[in-house]
Amino acid sequence: MLLLSKEDIKEVITMREAVEAVKESFRLFSAGKSNVPLRTNINVPEHDGSMLFMPSLVEDLDMGCLKVVNVFPENVKKGLPTTPAQVILIDASNGMVASVLDGTYVTQLRTGAASGAAFDVLANKDCEKGALIGTGGQAATQLEAMLAVRDLEEVKIFDLNRERLQAFVESMNQELDGYGAHILAAESSDDAVEDADLLICATPSSTPVFDGNRVKDGATLSCVGSYQPHMQEMDPVILTRASGIYFDSREAVLSEAGDILIPLETGVITEDDFTGDLGDVLLGNVEGRRADDEIIVFKTVGIGTQDLVTAKKIYDRAVEAGVGTNWD
Ligand SMILES: NC(=O)c1ccc[n+]([C@@H]2O[C@H](COP(=O)([O-])OP(=O)(O)OC[C@H]3O[C@@H](n4cnc5c(N)ncnc54)[C@H](O)[C@@H]3O)[C@@H](O)[C@H]2O)c1
Repeated sequence: MLLLSKEDIKEVITMREAVEAVKESFRLFSAGKSNVPLRTNINVPEHDGSMLFMPSLVEDLDMGCLKVVNVFPENVKKGLPTTPAQVILIDASNGMVASVLDGTYVTQLRTGAASGAAFDVLANKDCEKGALIGTGGQAATQLEAMLAVRDLEEVKIFDLNRERLQAFVESMNQELDGYGAHILAAESSDDAVEDADLLICATPSSTPVFDGNRVKDGATLSCVGSYQPHMQEMDPVILTRASGIYFDSREAVLSEAGDILIPLETGVITEDDFTGDLGDVLLGNVEGRRADDEIIVFKTVGIGTQDLVTAKKIYDRAVEAGVGTNWD
């Protein structure tokens, strides 16, 4: 069994490769080639925690996966991570556990790569400006994903927490220097969104984090944060302006994401406004962008197939390169 830390993972896979892995996972998912049972949630009321178990299997790859994500908000007071996670990769030809990977980083990588895949497939080719709202745990890989798929001159970042925003901008200007884009702190959400060709929201907000009227024609949006019925970071106005509304999994989004459920309930949109899943665009079953001035929205909540295919790619690379710690 191979143990793979965040540093090991960073050594063997690039964001561009992660984007390709996530595209493949969306193709497999839409072709009905992945078995992704609903996740199991066990509450631990005594410690205000919950343990989430996300299983998946792709028979064509002979690989199974279980992601364990534990949400313990009180951990902040104990100096421990609030959402510790591990990904367990299982060789489906014999049931042996092949690898245990840092699940927090695999999640960040595959979630960023989902935005990257959406932009690569649905955004205009000549994008120049990006915007990112939210500078938490997901933000670095979201930012890198947009830089990896489009040659951006500038990305404006906004977060309600000014201190975290400044620290994030400073560290990203160093870490992502190689992409050659100016990474700037925006004064406000409006300042960030104005003129952006690509826009990512990655916050746990329950109220919209941007003004949908300010988004320019031709923009492509990826909304990552909302995964419960009360959570809404997307301004519903943007859904009335959008020519295409795409999902990682329409079924998963409709089972949990307030970003789409609230506008459906209030009648701002109907299910007829939905275009389809990104995997179906990749398979050629659903149309993508038709014109440069269209606004396109992608909503993702994350599916187990993303974890499996991304973790398998990392594992294969690590075996080839002799990276990681063997545990027999
Ligand atoms: N789609 C997926 O596959 C996927 C995967 C992992 C996490 N998530 C979700 O993505 C969201 C972000 O995750 P994270 O780990 O980065 O969270 P986090 O708590 O680490 O950071 C969230 C950031 O958003 C900022 N924020 C909150 N409201 C804001 C607002 N109105 N305007 C600007 N900034 C605001 C906060 O100040 C914070 O810096 C969470 O809801 C998380 O559950 C989605």
